Amino acid sequence: MTSQSSRIPGFYKKSVTDRADLIAKWAELSADEKAVLNGKGLQPEQADLMIENVVGTYALPLGIATNFQINGKDYLIPMTVEEPSVVAALSHAAKLIRAGGGFHTEASDPVMIGQIQVLDVPDMEAAIATLEAHKDELMELANSSDALMLRLGGGARDIQQRPFPDSPVGPMLIVHLLYDTRDAMGANSVNTALELMAPRIAELTGGRTLLRILSNLADQRTATARGVIPAAALAVDGISGAEAAQRIAEANAFAIVDPYRAATHNKGIMNGIDAVVVATGNDWRAIEAGAHAYAARNGRYTALTDWHVNENGDLYGEITLPMAVGTVGGATKVHPTAKVAMKILNVSSAQELAQVLACVGLAQNLAAIKALSTVGIQQGHMRLHARQVATAAGATPEQVPVITERMIADKQINSVRAQEILAELNK
Ligand code: MEV
Repeated sequence: MTSQSSRIPGFYKKSVTDRADLIAKWAELSADEKAVLNGKGLQPEQADLMIENVVGTYALPLGIATNFQINGKDYLIPMTVEEPSVVAALSHAAKLIRAGGGFHTEASDPVMIGQIQVLDVPDMEAAIATLEAHKDELMELANSSDALMLRLGGGARDIQQRPFPDSPVGPMLIVHLLYDTRDAMGANSVNTALELMAPRIAELTGGRTLLRILSNLADQRTATARGVIPAAALAVDGISGAEAAQRIAEANAFAIVDPYRAATHNKGIMNGIDAVVVATGNDWRAIEAGAHAYAARNGRYTALTDWHVNENGDLYGEITLPMAVGTVGGATKVHPTAKVAMKILNVSSAQELAQVLACVGLAQNLAAIKALSTVGIQQGHMRLHARQVATAAGATPEQVPVITERMIADKQINSVRAQEILAELNK
């Protein structure tokens, strides 16, 4: 399965059924799993077990980004997203990075941070010293909640103190539990461990504990992706590869210095990451919160990426960001489409998934800033936008391409023009 190439020329030109057939073969999907792609996804009875007050289900497109090669292994990337262009742009960028030898990645251990808020501490220094002296006992307490996690090699890694002498309600001590959650996202394990530790922490410090909750600024659980694109591969529309590489570095520099640009730059990164996080049934709000908080970790919100022209004149890109995703637990193993998406992705650990996601973020960003700094973003969007306008005007699937091409040729992409052409076709 892993020896197959994710380079599938003309994938975008195939019908939905042909694409599903191809993916089913690629990922060795069973008949039942393939049926999930054909509309047999989440059923209301299953949805009813996931959240409250269920009245139905809500479908979004599931697309596949091609061309990914990460540390020598090929991947097809399942994406759930409503925005046109995202999947095509990602496949394009992955092809460029593939031309430079593919992505290279690493991930930290999957260590999450849990926080315990301690108030009314009579002596801050003494409390910190006492907690330090009882670290082993506290870690044992944290580990007493989840025997399976320990057996799998996870569990408490450290306890750290963060005093805040000045808060709006006076001094407070924040205790951090660092906890390796292995292949789980880990919120439940961490929160359970925190609740077990809190009474003893109150006793030891003489204070009062209040919040006990995981932090989404998962800066101990990061993934890094790197890639090089040969300058020649970046040439576009009369712009040389060297010029395009320089422009991409300049676009990145804009996002490094200006938070107004950084927000949009990072939003583009998350276009890709969120789509895969949603497809795999992970908590995309946690990933969003972690990414943006990490982007502001030095006191000023900035770009999550580095793009620069390297000593060979080629374009070098790198991203590091928190990546609190799991391959077990949550919806990953419950939602039928998430299960199929995981099978297509073919990752064997949360760390591998985290690294794939970092690559997706880096590539999605490359696609955006390459387009923005060369031909502009609208060119690529136009055809897809026209397709949506034609569909919204009530065109049949056969009429959509005809109306789309006519609107583009007329340089008039709007619902009035779509209606006019539709009326002509239906005459
Ligand atoms: C649109 O969804 C995302 C972009 O705005 C990202 C960017 O500006 O880098 C194109």
